Amino acid sequence: MQQQQKIAVVIGGGNGIGAATVRLMAARGWRVVAADIDPDAAGAIAGEVEGCVGLALDVTDTAGVADAAARIEEDLGPVTALVVSSGAFQESLPPHRMTDDAWSRVMQVNLDGTWHANRIFGNRMAARGMGSIVNIASVTGLFSSPLIAYGTSKAAVIGLTRNLAGEWGRSGVRVNSVSPGVTLVERILKHREEGTRYYGADFGAHAAMGRSVEPAEVAEAIEFLASERSSAITGIDVPVDCGWLIAAPWEMFGGCRPAVNGEVQT
Ligand SMILES: NC(=O)c1ccc[n+]([C@@H]2O[C@H](COP(=O)([O-])OP(=O)(O)OC[C@H]3O[C@@H](n4cnc5c(N)ncnc54)[C@H](O)[C@@H]3O)[C@@H](O)[C@H]2O)c1
Repeated sequence: MQQQQKIAVVIGGGNGIGAATVRLMAARGWRVVAADIDPDAAGAIAGEVEGCVGLALDVTDTAGVADAAARIEEDLGPVTALVVSSGAFQESLPPHRMTDDAWSRVMQVNLDGTWHANRIFGNRMAARGMGSIVNIASVTGLFSSPLIAYGTSKAAVIGLTRNLAGEWGRSGVRVNSVSPGVTLVERILKHREEGTRYYGADFGAHAAMGRSVEPAEVAEAIEFLASERSSAITGIDVPVDCGWLIAAPWEMFGGCRPAVNGEVQT
C-alpha cells in the first residue's frame, strides 16, 4: 500500500523563514499548506512550490484559524505538522516610547496567535494521537535586548512550547521551538539596504561563526523537529544562531578570535 503523504501547515509561510520551510518540506515529500495574512505572498509561494496550497489566514483571527483547520483536514486529510512562523516586529525603543498599541500588536501575533494555532491544531492532533508542532521563537527570548515587547513575547513562546509539550506528551503530540539568530530574510536585507532600524549593525560579526543565518538553515531544524526523525524530542528550544548566544561573553575579552587559517596547533 502506498504511504499517505504527510500534511504540514506553515503559518507565516508566505515569506522569509516560513517560505524557506515550505520549500524544504515540499522537497522532502510533505504536502504543504502555506497560510499567510498576505494573500499575495501565500499565492506566490503556492505558485512556486509544486503541490503547495496557498491560504489567506490571519493567525490572530481565532475563528478563522479554527475554520481553516477544519477545512484543510476535510480537503487534504489529517495535519501531521504545524509550523507557526508568523511574526510581528518592533522598533528598538526605550519603554517610555513604546506605545500600548505596539506592545499589544506584538503580543497578539507572536503570543496569542501562536497559542490559538497550537490549541486548535494541537487538540485535533491529540485526539488522533499524533502530530508535531514547531513554534518559531527567537534568541531575543533567551537573552536581554532592547526589543522589550518582541523579546518578552518570544520568551513566552518558549514557555508555551514547554507547557504544551508536557500537556500532550502522552497524547502523541510533540511541541518544540526553534530560536533563530539574525536570519537574512528579505525583510532584514531590505532594512539593511535602506539603513533603517538597527539592522545596519553587523550582527554576524558578533556570532561565534562570524556570520548571520540563512533562512534555509532555520528550515532544516524546523523540518527535523516536524518529522519522525526527532521522534523522542519534545519541549525543547533549538537555537539556530551561528553561535550568537554563546559568543556574547567573549565581547568582554575583546571578541571571538579570528580564524586560525591553517596555523599549526600543538
Ligand atoms: N529573520 C530573523 O532574523 C528572525 C530572528 C529570530 C526570530 N524570527 C522569527 O521567525 C519568524 C519568521 O520571521 P521572518 O524573519 O521570516 O519574517 P518575514 O516577515 O519574512 O515572514 C513573516 C511572515 O508572517 C506573516 N504574518 C505576519 N503577521 C501574520 C498574521 N497575523 N497571520 C499570519 N501571517 C502573518 C507575514 O505576512 C510574513 O509572510 C517570526 O516569528 C520571527 O519573529 C526571525
